[in-house]
Amino acid sequence: MVTVPELKRISSRISAIAESATLKVDAKAKALQAAGRPVISYAAGEPDFPTPAHIVDAALLAVKDPKNHRYTPAAGLPELRQAIADKTKRDSGWAVDPSQVVVTNGGKQAVYQAFATLLDPGDEVLVPTPYWTTYPEAIKLAGGVQVDVFAGAEQNYLVTVEQLEAARTDKTKVLLFVSPSNPTGAVYSPEQTKAIGEWAQKHGLWIIADEIYQNLTYDGVKAMSIVEAVPALQDRTILVNGVAKTYAMTGWRLGWMVGPVDAMKAAANLQSHLTSNVSNISQRAALAALTGPQEPVEEMRLAFDRRRKIAVAELNKIPGMIVPTPEGAFYVYADVRGLLNKEWAGVTPTNSLELADLILDKAEVAAVPGEAFGPSGYLRLSYALGDAQLLEGIQRLQKLFS
Ligand SMILES: Cc1ncc(COP(=O)(O)O)c(C=O)c1O
Repeated sequence: MVTVPELKRISSRISAIAESATLKVDAKAKALQAAGRPVISYAAGEPDFPTPAHIVDAALLAVKDPKNHRYTPAAGLPELRQAIADKTKRDSGWAVDPSQVVVTNGGKQAVYQAFATLLDPGDEVLVPTPYWTTYPEAIKLAGGVQVDVFAGAEQNYLVTVEQLEAARTDKTKVLLFVSPSNPTGAVYSPEQTKAIGEWAQKHGLWIIADEIYQNLTYDGVKAMSIVEAVPALQDRTILVNGVAKTYAMTGWRLGWMVGPVDAMKAAANLQSHLTSNVSNISQRAALAALTGPQEPVEEMRLAFDRRRKIAVAELNKIPGMIVPTPEGAFYVYADVRGLLNKEWAGVTPTNSLELADLILDKAEVAAVPGEAFGPSGYLRLSYALGDAQLLEGIQRLQKLFS
């Protein structure tokens, strides 16, 4: 008889990947809504607006042109890479050549490729915490070791140079820098950015800077790019960005990475075997987004700003909830530790996961628990939803926790 070796059905590497917690909560909320329950969801990480009309029109024209029915170079259409180089100069203060740009399937692929390009097994990555839920998986898959550096509400979710230095070892290769942040909406000031950049430069660290929310800031705040603050970092920085959040284009799957030529060449080689180029139609749409009128972006930003103010003011009326005012992105990050271990509608939540379940069950409100982004004790609420719904959901929470 032939003996067949018992091999694991799913590889250890892939079975260790957790489902995206944000997508999971959002899917649960949508399923309940589909079943007729009046759930108000603060879980989604995407603008509620349609993509601006001139971008959609450019895509419609593109789809009819047979030249767009073909592959493009793996790293992207030359004219789009040029437009991204121009945007990088405009918004991140870094004059790059189009050869330093790789167009990716969303910022998410850029995140994966950035870590895969830089990390060898055992290399450590400093990750300011709370962090967006995809980074740990991208780091793990690349063989890297995540080192959390936590900043709570009392420090506006912003890490300091002292904290980073305390976490640095001789294995530290990369600092992840995300400003504005998902999940907290926190934005580092130009001075804080410069101090962190200079510290990283002094220790020869690479930076992966996720700038996907850079155009969504409020109160006159500018999210200064870390390479603008410390130009000497240009040789060891990869910027991650995309059109999803700024242009309400999450479904178009278009992002990019910008960095030194050798790193971008390596990343493009990886991509050439992984996904090849991004859909030609989406590339044409992104070109229209980056080079066309920017008024729709400003209109959306003003709407987010209005909702941000409503969310912060109303949530802070709930005793036991602390909500610092976020200066960017479209999330508030509530410290809810004051609501734990108390009885609400017959339930006593001991962590934010249980609290999120409680508010979904009793108030039909969906929010993502802190466990998805680091320590327990927090809830992320996206305010990318209509003003009336936004207010109604918070009023339900006010009632539940009164
Ligand atoms: C911080 C951050 N980076 C990157 C992304 C990736 O965006 P996309 O892949 O939709 O371009 C997201 C999306 O939620 C994000 O929040």
